[in-house]
Amino acid sequence: MRFKVTVVGAGNVGATLAQRLAERDYADVVLVDIVEGLPQGKGLDMAQSGPVIGFDSTITGANTYEATAGSDIVIITAGIARKPGMSRDDLLQTNMKIVGGVTDQVVKYSPNSILIVVSNPLDAMAHLTLKRSGFPRNRVIGMAGVLDTARFRTFLALELGASVEDIQAYVLGGHGDTMVPLVRYTTCGGIPVSELIAKDRLDAIVKRTRDGGAEIVSLLKTGSAYYAPSAATAQMVDSILLDKKRILPCAVQLDGEYGIKGLFIGVPVKLGAKGCEQIIQIKLTAEEQAQLDKSAGAVKELVDAMARLGA
Ligand code: NAI
Ligand code: 2OP
Repeated sequence: MRFKVTVVGAGNVGATLAQRLAERDYADVVLVDIVEGLPQGKGLDMAQSGPVIGFDSTITGANTYEATAGSDIVIITAGIARKPGMSRDDLLQTNMKIVGGVTDQVVKYSPNSILIVVSNPLDAMAHLTLKRSGFPRNRVIGMAGVLDTARFRTFLALELGASVEDIQAYVLGGHGDTMVPLVRYTTCGGIPVSELIAKDRLDAIVKRTRDGGAEIVSLLKTGSAYYAPSAATAQMVDSILLDKKRILPCAVQLDGEYGIKGLFIGVPVKLGAKGCEQIIQIKLTAEEQAQLDKSAGAVKELVDAMARLGA
């Protein structure tokens, strides 16, 4: 029997993700959106790519949640995306209403599912989803670190003229300007990049990574990135459904790990059939810990703002 995956939000990220998942041929996909006809139309179009690409997964479009019942994984991409000049935090007020409502429906129909949150501001939306769902923390995971790390790896590979596959890296922290690219744990073919790239160039790459989302928003002008975000989310789905137990940077609610309690922060986690199966604690220098604490402070501000707004 196939797995069942629901993607809520049939916009740029959601639709691209649904197609990527259908092509993997291990899960039937349900695509949900509030816009009438949009998930049905995109779903039908995707299904008609099956005979060409060679997959048998079904893709069902819907505006309500009955068809999502019993999903193994639900990915929440519903919400508005950033426009030029808009910070992720500007999205808070609109997206908290959307994500809160979506979570209620998802939990009603798929009470045993694992939830992956993509909507921004990511760490705050994951916080809201966990609280609203009443799920244990291993079953609510935010996608950001895999994307931020992929951007870092891309820029490093370009700088070195090396394969992206040989770059190992970690970007931790909140999904925002305070994210923490861990240069000390970053290697190319096992060699620390600090031995291969001059410090001023490395600093520039770290900065470009931190601004990676905004760089794409300023080019696209009408929305934000979706090819890399959907690829990153699909990698997380692979690890959970196929119980691969990959160690990936994901946003999870910390309970004292890294000295942080009650906040979603990107850290290395083991993703398997139970969701977040382990939070990996790596030793940080005082400077790295200070950067992570600053990032946690930025997430806390959003969580406090949501509480003031009644979330
Ligand atoms: P988009 O605007 O293309 O799609 C959003 C979709 O959500 C629209 O089709 C809209 O109709 C739908 N929607 C709105 N309210 C809904 C509701 N109540 N129920 C169901 N569907 C609803 O936006 P895009 O580019 O797909 O981005 C989606 C979200 O993901 C944004 O918040 C964006 O900022 C975030 N994002 C997060 C990333 C991350 O790294 N965590 C990376 C890229 C995007
Ligand atoms: C990104 O980093 C907008 O959060 C989204 O591309």
